[in-house]
Amino acid sequence: MKLLITGGAGFIGSNFIHYMLTEYPDIQIVNFDALTYAGNLENLGPVERNPRYTFVKGDITVEADVTAVFQAHAMDAVVHFAAESHVDRSLLLGPEGPEAFIRTNILGTQRLLDTARVHRVRRFVHVSTDEVYGSLESEGRFMETSPIQPNNPYAATKAGSDFMVRAAHRSHGLDAVITRCSNNFGPYQFPEKLIPLMIANALENKPLPVYGDGRQVRDWIYVRDHCRGIDCVLRQGKAGEVYNIGGMHDVPNLEVVRLILKLLNKPDSLIQHVTDRPGHDRRYAIDSTKIETELGWRRQFDFETALKATVDWYLQYRTWWERIRSGEYQKYYATMYGKR
Ligand code: NAD
Ligand code: TYD
Repeated sequence: MKLLITGGAGFIGSNFIHYMLTEYPDIQIVNFDALTYAGNLENLGPVERNPRYTFVKGDITVEADVTAVFQAHAMDAVVHFAAESHVDRSLLLGPEGPEAFIRTNILGTQRLLDTARVHRVRRFVHVSTDEVYGSLESEGRFMETSPIQPNNPYAATKAGSDFMVRAAHRSHGLDAVITRCSNNFGPYQFPEKLIPLMIANALENKPLPVYGDGRQVRDWIYVRDHCRGIDCVLRQGKAGEVYNIGGMHDVPNLEVVRLILKLLNKPDSLIQHVTDRPGHDRRYAIDSTKIETELGWRRQFDFETALKATVDWYLQYRTWWERIRSGEYQKYYATMYGKR
């Protein structure tokens, strides 16, 4: 099988490439990525000389780039990760804000769908998020049939892309499947997201900025379990269907942050409550019954073991995140947290 992976230089895409190359000795992978601030070829260092792996720099919003990669490689399937992925950035004014999200997440997805159709790709897996469902009260979990009610521009553009994928299936018969996963954590996650940001700040004895009261709930899943879920859907999912993938570990942010501090032997006094995110979703929790019963997927990693492994990874690969945090990231941090 030959797979086109978009966004493979990011967090989940790079973990997926490592996973697939290890699991399947016959698979070939083309990683198509624009290398935005979130794309990092260091994430693929261990496989860059693997003859079954090819990197192509390109932008999913640029027709010539997308057409060229499909013409150069006969793809069996596309697994589409490329996206602007950070909620806080989607709330900024200016070119890095919603416009960038609309361009990549909606227009870019449409460009890929059109090209996949022209080249008769056999399967298109669209990697989406539970955030399209909006926010839950204290009870209940998101089902695939829950209403789509996104509350921030990131989630709204992911919902838009989900609808375009659905439309490509319904209107043109494209064999497309959508996954909606909860919050991931693990190696290679860019340190703008909660878990790696808190680990890095704690290791540098900097304040840990918890938004609002810190009682917002997220359903955490180890990235490897998500990758196994996507692989299941790629191989066995039914065309036109949506599959939720969740970690079954929904806990308040403060609990996650305290556990990180405990694992690193750092004091809780590093926690600093800062102004809340506007429109902050209160609670996410996923019901994964469909993928479990129909495709036989199960979460394999429990949260505490996986969080410890993640903390150990950030300790071992300190140069990876220190290099990121020493560049453009400082401007980002000052914008986001300077006056909070
Ligand atoms: P990420 O931000 O770490 O990586 C995104 C990658 O896409 C980067 O390598 C970037 O260079 C690339 N990219 C961005 N714009 C591009 C463009 N126009 N053309 C080509 N490449 C482009 O994101 P992630 O956390 O790995 O998320 C991957 C996917 O999974 C996203 O679609 C996201 O919505 C979804 N998702 C993420 C989570 C999570 O917790 N991180 C949970 C559920 C779903
Ligand atoms: P994040 O990792 O940005 O994922 P998402 O917003 O997509 O769920 O944030 C996870 C949770 O952590 C979310 O409730 C916002 C909160 N958070 C903080 O409290 N402080 C921070 O510095 C960050 C980045 C997030």
